[in-house]
Amino acid sequence: MEAVRSAGLIKVYRGKEVVEALKGVNISVRKGELFTLLGPNGAGKTTFLRIISTQLLPTKGEAYVLGYDVLNEPKEVRKRIAVVPQDAVTYGMYTPWEYAYYFALLRGMSKADAKDAAERALKTVGIWELKNRTCLTLSGGEKKRAIIAAALSSDAEVLMLDEPTSGLDAVARRRVWSALREMVNKGKTVLLTTHMMEEAEMISDRLAIINKGLVIAEGDVSEVKRLVKERYRVVVWGQFNKLSEYGNVTRIGDRCIVYIDSEDVSLELLRACLGRGLKAEISTVTLEDVFVRLVGGIEGEGS
Ligand SMILES: Nc1ncnc2c1ncn2[C@@H]1O[C@H](COP(=O)(O)OP(=O)(O)OP(=O)(O)O)[C@@H](O)[C@H]1O
Ligand SMILES: [Mg+2]
Repeated sequence: MEAVRSAGLIKVYRGKEVVEALKGVNISVRKGELFTLLGPNGAGKTTFLRIISTQLLPTKGEAYVLGYDVLNEPKEVRKRIAVVPQDAVTYGMYTPWEYAYYFALLRGMSKADAKDAAERALKTVGIWELKNRTCLTLSGGEKKRAIIAAALSSDAEVLMLDEPTSGLDAVARRRVWSALREMVNKGKTVLLTTHMMEEAEMISDRLAIINKGLVIAEGDVSEVKRLVKERYRVVVWGQFNKLSEYGNVTRIGDRCIVYIDSEDVSLELLRACLGRGLKAEISTVTLEDVFVRLVGGIEGEGS
């Protein structure tokens, strides 16, 4: 049984305008894995998470969390999940300690267990020293960490986090990454969204890319990378004519990324650049390259 499964999930928002946010989304998240949802702004990631966390009704389709139907058994689903919403706001008069401790208590832990869980979670996200300050007095990233700590202390079987690390500094981000990996190692399932490709590449077991309400890629990082035929990227600084003879060119201001299938051609380009006194760098294709390829919107293609 999967931790999360959706079949033909459709969501149409009917406000002043009709928006088809999900157009038939099928996603399977296995138990005990960290699954990342990627997608451009407006792709439907938050809509998907809100539906499977029982906060929003789908227009059509089915979704299950640990086998429980989100439509017909929402209470069973809620008992087993902890959610960090994208636009989570803290109540100003609560402290991070209260967030983490009460969240754990509400999930049915004993006081002693809740204390332990809260302490561990607050230390994990690095705000133990701030635990007794009211959220009103915390910075944006500190507030966010308080909310993540609350979710971590819950001991829920499935964690759903909508852009948990946006607005966090690099150190805090890594703390959250390792906390999430720890949850997975304990057998929990983590489903998150992010715009950071490095994050997705670093921590996911599997991922899906959603674009305009449809899943356009799903698999582990290397499977998704294989959806694009080029293996290498060469970044060239400065003017180089006929770059497109080497591969697919993406122009970014005064520099270009050339996507190339073969290592030999990549090295040839590298030598040609150095021969002209231009700075150039070679590496393998990143998840970000693949993402941009798949969702389109590459500027200066073919120049
Ligand atoms: N309450 C709403 N009413 C009408 N349209 C909505 C509503 N919420 C979202 N939408 C639209 O549905 C689409 C999907 O939105 P959603 O928030 O799921 O995207 P997202 O992938 O989470 O984007 P982001 O990366 O910016 O958070 C967008 O076109 C958005 O404008
Ligand atoms: Mg969103």
